[in-house]
Amino acid sequence: MFHNRAIISIVMGIMLLLVLSAPLLAQETPAYLNSDLSAEERAADLLARMSLEEKIGQMTQVEKNSLTPADVTEWLIGSVLSGGGGYPSPNTPEAWAAMVNGFQEAALGTPLAIPVIYGVDAVHGHNNVMGAVIFPQNVGLGATRNAELVGQTAEITAREMIATGIYWDFAPVVAVPQDIRWGRAYEGFGENTDLVTELSTAYLLGLQGESLSAPGSVLGTPKHFIGDGGTTWGSSRLGSAYMDQGETPVDEATLRERYLPPYISVIEHGAQSIMISFSSWGGLPMHAQSYLINDVLKGELGFTGFTISDWAGIDTISEDYYEAVVTAINAGVDMAMVPYDFERFISTMLEAVENGDITLERIDDAVSRILRVKFELGLFEHPFNDPALLPAVGSDEHRAVAREAVSQSLVLLKNEGEALPISPETQTVFVAGTAADDIGLQSGGWTIDWQGGAGNITEGTTILEALEAAVPETTAVHFNRFGRFENFRDDAGNPLIADVGIVVISEQPYAEYEGDDAVLALAETDWSAVERLRPLVNKLVVIVLSGRPVMINEAIMSADAVVAAWLPGTEGEGVSDVLLGIEPFTGRLPYTWPRDIEQLPFDFANLPTEGCDAPLFPFDYGLTYENSESSWVDLAIECAGG
Ligand code: GLC
Repeated sequence: MFHNRAIISIVMGIMLLLVLSAPLLAQETPAYLNSDLSAEERAADLLARMSLEEKIGQMTQVEKNSLTPADVTEWLIGSVLSGGGGYPSPNTPEAWAAMVNGFQEAALGTPLAIPVIYGVDAVHGHNNVMGAVIFPQNVGLGATRNAELVGQTAEITAREMIATGIYWDFAPVVAVPQDIRWGRAYEGFGENTDLVTELSTAYLLGLQGESLSAPGSVLGTPKHFIGDGGTTWGSSRLGSAYMDQGETPVDEATLRERYLPPYISVIEHGAQSIMISFSSWGGLPMHAQSYLINDVLKGELGFTGFTISDWAGIDTISEDYYEAVVTAINAGVDMAMVPYDFERFISTMLEAVENGDITLERIDDAVSRILRVKFELGLFEHPFNDPALLPAVGSDEHRAVAREAVSQSLVLLKNEGEALPISPETQTVFVAGTAADDIGLQSGGWTIDWQGGAGNITEGTTILEALEAAVPETTAVHFNRFGRFENFRDDAGNPLIADVGIVVISEQPYAEYEGDDAVLALAETDWSAVERLRPLVNKLVVIVLSGRPVMINEAIMSADAVVAAWLPGTEGEGVSDVLLGIEPFTGRLPYTWPRDIEQLPFDFANLPTEGCDAPLFPFDYGLTYENSESSWVDLAIECAGG
């Protein structure tokens, strides 16, 4: 009897304790921390708890070199970015994770413990990180025409990002570049709206998966809204020597037909962040375009995510910073990439709200959009890196996919006398060109540093290394970057004639406006190597590494084979696989190739298809090993006076 009473009193005591502590427990786990609730519900609960300072902090993104983790806590900053090349020292995946986690720990030290969302430009792999796999730039991915493969490259990029604690990628560029003199042409998938729509959607799905909450998902950011690829030479706000950040001089019907479809598609497929363009339309900077951002993007297209400005993009609106901030936020910019003086931005925002020039309703709209994404991304549940993925950064498995993408990106422009593939019976190969043995030139801009850089800038395989490793032991490969092989003599003491000569010529790396180029001419040293090698080889192959079509009449005239290899990245074996016939040529031009610079900008609606006014090679052109007859090559030689 006594025993039963004891049990009953213990049970009663526990029940009383639970009843009394329920409100306390409830206080300890606010709704926004309850992952069973929807992102909408959690955002609403959190917003209601936030001060104006906390809200404005969420709308502020700062470059990592402009603040410390302590500033994140003090100023309630909602986002941090690494600009191009914004790497820690040492530049290792582990150091990246430690840096990003440091900012995250500081954010979780704020009263409401709202995690920061850290963003980078991982535009062809996790390309700021030493040792990460570097994929072909989008121009090469465009040449593959392979949406599934493009998606795979993005999926791998996401994995390598999460290894370092980064869940936001300012990619893909969904521009439809119309004039290849633009320094960002290589960031586009091509000149054709349908091609860009298909591949940018595949890329976004690769980054985000079917749901932002899925493991392995990172937030993508289609950019730059809208018309960044349609600016004209000399219209840039940077001056007449440029076209980047210029004016897109088209009517609304053309804007909608040529540049809007990629945005319609990526929004339908889950885009939750979109970056605003530096360019302008109708003379008005995109960052001030309320009609296009509020009415078209958020209204007509139903975009429920958040917009982010470009790098100090708000400043492009007006010399008067207060006016610029008010205009941009009211035009629909939800988060400002400040990237330096965050204190000025925050104080300006507070002043504008206090003056009533920016309403609290507008602030709440922007912050709700940002919070919803942070909840959907699962940042509150997994704010830090996934260390289990660190070994995957730059792994052989990832590099194998990049190698396949390189092979499928190569476009065969000319192949006469079966110069290619290189036969296994070949005895001697001369290799020349400044780009034959250079990872930096293979990769282009946005690689380790913002502008990229020539040289051995990260781990990878150069085209020369790949060739040397792939040819049979009976084939001798000799390299001289300038094409100087005079010392090679046959038994009779005459200059040795090699079976095959390969010259790898290239653009120097560039990014953004630094790449705006009025002439698209390669360096004289490259052409000298071509001229030197010609008499010394039976078959001459020229490989062009460039972010866009460049002037190559000389190559078409003197070489037996010409290959457009774009900016292939770290996996040079993808090139040797095709040169040796292990893989086929399948690539097709993503851009129309001009015969000479005077043909630019192309009038695509009235492009001649014959005679010397026609381009050198049309969009979608590409030869194969089975079919290398080309009337375009014949015309090229005729027009060049051959
Ligand atoms: C740059 C680019 C943009 C990039 C951003 C952050 O200026 O225009 O594409 O995402 O700044 O690096």
